[in-house]
Amino acid sequence: MKFRSVLAALLLVPVTAMAAPSVIPLPAHIAAAQGRIEITNGATVAAAPADAPIAGYFMGLVRRMRGLSLRPARANKPARIAFRRDAAVAAAEGYRLEIAPSGVTVSAGTRAGLFYGAVTLAQLMAQTSCRGCAAALESMRIDDAPRFAWRGLLLDSVRHFQTPATVEALIDAMALHKLNVLQWHLTDDQGWRIEIRKYPRLTAAGAWRGAHYGGFYTQAQIRDVVRYAALRNVTIVPEIEMPGHAMAAIVAYPRLGSAEAPPSRVTSDWGVLPYLYNTDDGTFVFLEDVLDEVMALFPSPYIHVGGDEALKDQWKANPRIQARMKSLGLPDEDALQSWFIARIGAYLARHGRKMIGWDEILQGGIPPDATIMSWRGIDGAVAAAKAGHDTVLSPAPMLYFDNRQGSGADEPSGRGHVLTLQDVYGFDPLPASLDAKERGHVLGLQANVWTEHIPNDAQVSYMAFPRAAAVAELGWSNRTDWGDFRMRMAAELDRYRALGIGFAPSAFEVDAATSFENGRTAALVSLSTQSGLGDIRFTLDGSAPGPDSSSYGGPFPVKLPATLKAAAFADGHALTLPTVRRLDMLSLLRRDSRELKLCSERLPLALASGRAVLLVDILNPCWIYEKADLDGIAAIAAGAAQLPFNFSIGVDRDRISLRPARTPAGELEVHLDDCDAAPVAVLPLKPTARAGAVETVSAPLAGQSGIHDLCFVFTQNSLDPFWALNFVQLVPRR
Ligand code: ACM
Repeated sequence: MKFRSVLAALLLVPVTAMAAPSVIPLPAHIAAAQGRIEITNGATVAAAPADAPIAGYFMGLVRRMRGLSLRPARANKPARIAFRRDAAVAAAEGYRLEIAPSGVTVSAGTRAGLFYGAVTLAQLMAQTSCRGCAAALESMRIDDAPRFAWRGLLLDSVRHFQTPATVEALIDAMALHKLNVLQWHLTDDQGWRIEIRKYPRLTAAGAWRGAHYGGFYTQAQIRDVVRYAALRNVTIVPEIEMPGHAMAAIVAYPRLGSAEAPPSRVTSDWGVLPYLYNTDDGTFVFLEDVLDEVMALFPSPYIHVGGDEALKDQWKANPRIQARMKSLGLPDEDALQSWFIARIGAYLARHGRKMIGWDEILQGGIPPDATIMSWRGIDGAVAAAKAGHDTVLSPAPMLYFDNRQGSGADEPSGRGHVLTLQDVYGFDPLPASLDAKERGHVLGLQANVWTEHIPNDAQVSYMAFPRAAAVAELGWSNRTDWGDFRMRMAAELDRYRALGIGFAPSAFEVDAATSFENGRTAALVSLSTQSGLGDIRFTLDGSAPGPDSSSYGGPFPVKLPATLKAAAFADGHALTLPTVRRLDMLSLLRRDSRELKLCSERLPLALASGRAVLLVDILNPCWIYEKADLDGIAAIAAGAAQLPFNFSIGVDRDRISLRPARTPAGELEVHLDDCDAAPVAVLPLKPTARAGAVETVSAPLAGQSGIHDLCFVFTQNSLDPFWALNFVQLVPRR
């Protein structure tokens, strides 16, 4: 035994020769060695008393991901797995993991490093989905530390409110990815979600929208969540928005506002609202009081003060604020915002905290010592780094996880732009225009889960994962390789399932494209997956596809009707649930709006209405059904719903292209190949009985044949409510 472990040490070889173990994010250095060790049920785990919570967390992960029960070693007794502090492993979140036939050792100089060593070891023990099986670990040595210090996610708990249990579940899932910052978006126009003892109306009035929707976190709940996060090496950075996104606070305390007429109710609109805090000294007293309670709750070195999207109209119109601006010798409202933010920054600095804000705080001059979070692309990050300020990259749309993940008919609501796992993985967190010194100011990156269109807790996890795995690897690992990453995702999906982490299957599930063959008696079926991972297997007899089902080798004909079931397989098991498609004449002639092409992507949204999801560019309600086969089509039917226009989009509202209606309720026009050509069919609309209900409308289509792009455009005379398309069905002649 002893001899073998000595031999193992002599035979360390770089791991490049072998496949990387299925760990995400990929560790910095892995050196393979000879031999292996089996970790079986009942194997012992040793840690110093101070690190017992880490050992306990590790054992919990192994139990949940692998079904193995490990147990703590008795004090000073040898153990199969040992966690130990070693100051020589110096990187802030770094660790060393040594696997030898004689035992496994995780060493680190810090608590964070030891924790991440535990996470890596637990992942190594769960590379296959065999539950309760002994984990066979190849001998190796891992020396690991992160590329960036800020590896973040933002959770918007304002637009929709999540329970504390959901926030904790998100933190747990972040820990699995070595993500270490949760920016918690707690205040905005649509709600105030953090209890502030000194100002009870913030939550009594400001946390409730309309008659029913709302909620807030008590200070006790927040303390629990912060503690929960700390054990998992997640720092919660609270975000308290100012000077804009302040409507809920102003509803609660009208004296804080800038407008002559204060708002009386928290808005139910999405978008950018005009309400700003005023610049009175009393308002700063309020904000400092709030920050006092925030700092007492959150030990984070950074406090996020928002600063984005503050329209300056109310400041321009308010004589008192204008007088203040002049007396301060400031040239314009941007400079006034800079002064405002700098004043808050100085307050935070006096209390030993650092200020971070969205890139608009660059306007009017960078406040001293501010860290810039760049969301309007990466320009803000570049400007900040060149000016010697730290920055975090969080650009839209690349790291905006409210964007949908695919164009299938089962993709839930969100922003309409499609942002795939591979898109996210392709993001480069170090802007090319920065030199080495400037690059040192890039603290890291962060993806944001905004929740305007994420109405329930389960969907938060769906939008975050697996794309957060890509962010984790960009933030942690020094090298990225999509082909290798996607292979490691197979085991990661198993771990998600074992841990109950909800995720989008979009990158790995099978998409089926169909066209008619043989006079509509058959379909030609093409199968693919977004990521290209695994072998596609399918059945046509209704049975579930297995690893030995027919292998997809290219487009194939299917006699109609039939039921197709297909899934991609890696290492003998399915990556996702099978895609199930009923193939018949009507289903091949139907498209969900999510499967249509939008005529433009000016402000594309996939809007939920009841159980329906409607993809629409709200600035241009126009869709294209590409390559529609019109042979023998006698009519066109469509599902449409009238939705409230609850978007505060400023001047863009005047740029919406609405075609005039011929009847009060409007029409759905169908154009052939050219959206501006005369319509070939006009489907009369009728006001829906229930707001948001999908109604089916139809009209005959005469004398068309061949393959064409069909363009669908609503005519309507008013915007609110507005029409959105849910589906299109071409109806064949009987
Ligand atoms: C933002 O998306 N307004 C930061």
